[in-house]
Amino acid sequence: MKFNLFVLLLAPLVNCQRNATRIIGGVDARPGVYPFAGTLVNYKHGTFCGSSLLSNRWLVTAAHCVYDLSPSDVKITLGSNTFNIAAGKPISEIKIHPNYSKATQRNDIAVIRLSSPVNLRTVKIATQPPVRDGETLRAVGWGLTDFKSSSPAETLQEVDLTTIPRDECRKRLSTFEGNGVGTQICTGNTPGKDTCSGDSGGPLLRDSSGEWVLVGITSFGAWKSNVTLTVTCGVPEVVGIYTNAMRYIDFISSATGLSRGSFTK
Ligand SMILES: *[C@@H]1O[C@H](CO)[C@@H](O)[C@H](O)[C@H]1NC(C)=O
Ligand SMILES: *[C@@H]1O[C@H](CO)[C@@H](O)[C@H](O)[C@H]1NC(C)=O
Ligand SMILES: *[C@@H]1O[C@H](CO)[C@@H](O)[C@H](O)[C@H]1NC(C)=O
Repeated sequence: MKFNLFVLLLAPLVNCQRNATRIIGGVDARPGVYPFAGTLVNYKHGTFCGSSLLSNRWLVTAAHCVYDLSPSDVKITLGSNTFNIAAGKPISEIKIHPNYSKATQRNDIAVIRLSSPVNLRTVKIATQPPVRDGETLRAVGWGLTDFKSSSPAETLQEVDLTTIPRDECRKRLSTFEGNGVGTQICTGNTPGKDTCSGDSGGPLLRDSSGEWVLVGITSFGAWKSNVTLTVTCGVPEVVGIYTNAMRYIDFISSATGLSRGSFTK
């Protein structure tokens, strides 16, 4: 019942919007596989997002999850597959990418510092190879499991998604630069499987010889402005857009003071 306090995170976009983000068509994640996946509870607006632990103090999330918040508005829960608001940890700093644009959701990335260090397995950002077209990647989150609900999933969900080529993605988001080369990653063509409200800011992962490494940060859903949709997650008219983490290693390193080698692989 405590989840009734929470509403969907609305990404304020013009012709590309994701009315919140949460895994659609996923399955319960096995305990202990993604200890670095944190929820980010926003007490100011009563919404929630995902985040990923990069060190014992620092997490990465989406800028749109935190751009108008101060540290006292936010708590992070970590280390459990069960959504447990009571276990929220306080944070002491939020640093938004200086070139984050609310209008376009470019550079949708921010880092957050926990008030106290935690002792949990972190995730490393992949430095190579660049994300390929047609690559299968895994998203995890506590977001909506069906578009109509408005509370978090009780158990962390995982879903496999596929990247789509630039020209295919541009039919939905005309500014998309291409997987691997651009600042964003685009997934689609997996009807019934998607991220949705509440998954924003959470990890998009690659299986690197048995180790999950971070390649993307859940950002928004995009569709043609002349199309009217009632459901905007898990439908073929909508592509999923993720911030390409590889392109922001310098930002993360300078914002957190972490050496590149400590959070990349
Ligand atoms: C977003 O969700 C809210 C609440 O469910 C709904 O009223 C609104 O129409 C939705 N917006 C879009 C663009 O789907
Ligand atoms: C932000 O944009 C300016 C102008 O394009 C650029 O010089 C600067 O390096 C960018 N900042 C970051 C952190 O990427
Ligand atoms: C929307 O616009 C695209 C071109 O940008 C066009 O191909 C498509 O047919 C249009 N769809 C509708 C429903 O008007």
